[in-house]
Formats: sequence, structure tokens, C-alpha cells
Amino acid sequence: MICHTGVDSRTRSRPLSRTQLASNSTRRPRGWLAEITADSFLSAAGRTAAAEAPAQPVDAATGSTATVQHGTPLSVGTGSSAGLNAFPLQSVVDPRNVKECRALDIMAGLQLAPRELGRGTYGVVVSGTYNMLPCAIKVMVSQGLCRAAVRELLLGPSLVHPNLVATYTSRCARLTHEFFDLLEGPRIGVADPTAPRLLEPILHSGDGFGDPTGKGEAADPLPVLHQVLYDLKAVTGQVLTVTVQEFCDASTLSQAVKRGLFITTALWGVRLARRALLRTAAEVARGMLHLHDAGVVHGDLKPANVLLRSARDDRRGFTAKVADFGLSHVLPHAVITISTETWGSVAYMAPEAFDGTVSRATDAWAMGVILWEMLTGERPFAGKTQPAVVQGVRTGSLSLEWPSGMDPMAEAIIALGRRCLARRPEDRPSFRAILEGVVEIELAIRAEVLQQAAALQLVATEAHLAALAAQQLALQAAALAGAGVQVYDGPPGTQETSGGEGGTASQQEEQGGGRHAVCGDLPELQRLNLED
Ligand SMILES: Nc1ncnc2c1ncn2[C@@H]1O[C@H](COP(=O)(O)OP(=O)(O)O)[C@@H](O)[C@H]1O
Ligand SMILES: [Mg+2]
Repeated sequence: MICHTGVDSRTRSRPLSRTQLASNSTRRPRGWLAEITADSFLSAAGRTAAAEAPAQPVDAATGSTATVQHGTPLSVGTGSSAGLNAFPLQSVVDPRNVKECRALDIMAGLQLAPRELGRGTYGVVVSGTYNMLPCAIKVMVSQGLCRAAVRELLLGPSLVHPNLVATYTSRCARLTHEFFDLLEGPRIGVADPTAPRLLEPILHSGDGFGDPTGKGEAADPLPVLHQVLYDLKAVTGQVLTVTVQEFCDASTLSQAVKRGLFITTALWGVRLARRALLRTAAEVARGMLHLHDAGVVHGDLKPANVLLRSARDDRRGFTAKVADFGLSHVLPHAVITISTETWGSVAYMAPEAFDGTVSRATDAWAMGVILWEMLTGERPFAGKTQPAVVQGVRTGSLSLEWPSGMDPMAEAIIALGRRCLARRPEDRPSFRAILEGVVEIELAIRAEVLQQAAALQLVATEAHLAALAAQQLALQAAALAGAGVQVYDGPPGTQETSGGEGGTASQQEEQGGGRHAVCGDLPELQRLNLED
């Protein structure tokens, strides 16, 4: 199966493969859809979807190419060789399970807003609604049912976990002339109406001038779909894939790193920054662990593929969710590594992945790079060319430099990150170990915070008791001296001696509020308020 984007990643650099998608046409519009973020560029450029050889029998359902290496006894680091999940995902990702619908029906129940959320190699993601539920809609076109499309269509909806982006539904249809007619009206005077056809650019203004209030019409999905398909250079006969996902409204982990969420500032203390990092890493690890237990290797784990959804659970204000299963591999039973032609984004690729070997451990390497990126706030291998990164990481002459002389919390994160970036895959921790590691570090930070709070409380209590003792002594002394009525206010340090002000002892007792009148008789001194 060949994707329309298929290029041999070993012969093309990432920007070229991005170009492959967008093509060099001067017709490319420069509107809202034409905006490409640095992330999406990297994402797209890094994902040179290699032309895939026909799958070998054992690997038919996975779409992965070439040989399957059966597992040697499992190393502690790489997790279970067979997926733990009883649901056989391998048979799910069989292209024969894909059912096409009519192109005319593909937008049923969907509304698209002219708001691009992002884009990658294969698709453009826009916001919209699914039966009036806000959602993100990923639109991609491919020459036939390519591997990425099969994964989007079949794998996404099968994976349910709070730390994986949920796919509500997925659809695909063959692009027809009839559908293009619906988008832009029938063409007149065309010599061969059955010849492959590209869409003409759309007039954004609808009636030629547009809405004078500037509000625009957001609801009708067809103009937006027209724009997306035009932008993707869709041609009749290609397959249109639409994936409807939960809307992750707080951007990506990549953006959070750029905004400095994991870096200490005057307002965001070191503990907060570290806990934000650790909590986010724990969520990514949970999502990845779910994938690995299901026998799925992500294959393109990176901050741009970790989406953030607003949540009020903690001070970060979001929950992290792993997304984009387009490059994932479903491991056949009892297999721990497979060979593949697909490449993720080079900065996150493990040394062995450049030679076409992927396993759960290659995802663990990517997690190490993510930990480095969150801790330093920098882009990995910034300023290096892609061939230099490929060559350097592959041979071991290039590695990420961890900062030195950091706080103990950071040192613990660094130690974990270094394990993830072990050159030998079997030396890397499993995602279970990564999860346990980050939780343990956060627990230690929390224990320290609680310990400090308890120490402060102890100091306060001792001061309180000392104040009470002093008060008692003062009262005793006053009583012995026959000084008359003593008055004590509940909270510490507010003792008041009344020589006449405030009324009589009995009046004050009636007024309540924790104010106790104490008479000159010694036994009455027992009535001191010791509630605190
Ligand atoms: N569910 C979503 N909610 C919000 N934004 C999304 C969603 N899915 C994707 N995006 C945005 O689109 C970008 C590309 O999506 P992705 O699924 O990674 O596509 P690709 O497979 O082409 O890389 C993401 O980096 C993100 O910015
Ligand atoms: Mg992506």
C-alpha cells in the first residue's frame, strides 16, 4: 500500500517530505488554513511516511513492513512482549475492516468551523461540532487506504483512556465528481468530465463580498471542507478520511514547554514547576502504558503529539493526552520488536529506530527526550541539521546535554531521563517504571512540602502552648495578688485583664464568643480555653 505522501525517508530530508504533502503549487492559499506552526511543520516534516512494501503474512494486519523479530526473553525495561489486552487490536487494524461511506454522507452530523487547530503530514485539524458536541475534526486524503488512514479509522476509536485523545467516530469515502460538484458546483464545458479533478479555490466571501459584520458563517461544513480539500490538493478518486475527536482546547505540550510552564519564574516556584512537569509526565506515561499494554507502539511520541485539555484537577489547568496514532505499530502476539520503514520526528527517534527497528523501548527513548525538553524548556538538538541529528544519534556522537548543578528534584528527573535515553533498548525503563518513577519523585516533593508544613505547625503549636503557660502564670500571679476579675479571650496571645472595662464576669460569660470570665478564686483558673 502506498500513501500519496510516500517517500523514502532515508533519501529525503523532513522539509522535503512536508513539501510532498503541500506540493509546490502557487495556488496554495495564504488564509487561515495556510498557517503552519513550527510544531506542525516539524511534525509533518519528520514524518516521512515511507512507501511500504506489502506486508508479510505474519504482519498482515499491522501494516508494518518487513521482518518480525520474535522476542528473546523479555528485558525488564521494555514491558510485556505480548499485549496484556484481551481485545486483539491486531485484527482490528486490518484494512478489510474499513467500511467506506458515500462522500455525500461523510459530513452527516458534523459542522466545521473555519478555525484550523493544527496540521501534520497527513491531515488538517479544524474545530467543529459532532451532533452539536464541540470536537476536533481531522481531515486527511490519501491515495487509497494508506497505513496512517487505517490507523486513524480503526485504531483511534478502539483506544479508550483519559490520557489518550478520544476518537468519537471515524469515516472515510472515495472522493467523487458528484461530491466535488456539491462543493463547487458543476463545471461547464469540460472536455473529459471523468478525468481526475482538483478543486478550484473557493471565494471565502460567499456572495462575493461577505458578511459586513465580519462574523462569518461558521456552521456549514462544506465551504470549510472545500477549503481544506483544496489546501490538501485533493483529487477525485482519492480517499477522504475524517476523524472526529475530543477537542483538546489547551493546545499541545509543545506549546506549554514554549510558554515556560515547567520553568521556574518569580511567580512559579521551583516546586510548582517540577510538580507540573512530573504530573504531566505521569499522564503521558499512563497513556503510553495503556497503549503498550494493548500491544501498540506509538512510533511518533513528541510534545506536538501530546494534546492538552482544560481541567481543574490541579494548578496546571489541563490534562495531557497522547494523540496521533498514524505511525503506530500493533505488535503481533509475542513479538517485541518489528522492522519498519516509517520514521517519526528525528529529534525524538531512538538510535535503533534509524535502522528501522521499533519497540516499546523506542517510545521510552522519546519520553526521555520529552523529559529533557520539559526540564530545559529548549528544543532538542536546536540549531543542528537533520542529517547531523540522524548521524549523531545513530552513532552516539551526539546526545542531549542535561543541565548540571540543579535542585534535587531536577536531579531525580534527570536520572530517570538518562535511563530513558540509554543507548541499549533493553536498558530503558518500561512506561510502568517511568510512571512509578515520576510518581515517586512527586511523592517525595509532596512529602517535603507536607513535612515543612508540619514543622511550621509544630512551631506555631509550641508558641501557642508557651503563650498559654505564660498566661496561666500571669493569672495565678494576679489571683494571688487579689487583683479581682481576670478576663481571657479564646485565641492565644489575646489575654485581657479587666479592671472594670467590659462589664462583670457573668455579663461577659453571657456574651459568649469564647470569652471566659475568671474570678479571683484559684479553682476557677482551670477554665482557661485550651481548645486550640
Ligand atoms: N483533538 C484535537 N484537539 C485539538 N487540536 C488538535 C487535535 N488533534 C490534533 N490537533 C492539532 O493538530 C495538530 C496535528 O494533529 P495530528 O493528529 O498530530 O496530525 P498528524 O497526524 O497530521 O500529525 C496537533 O499537533 C494539534 O496542534
Ligand atoms: Mg502529529
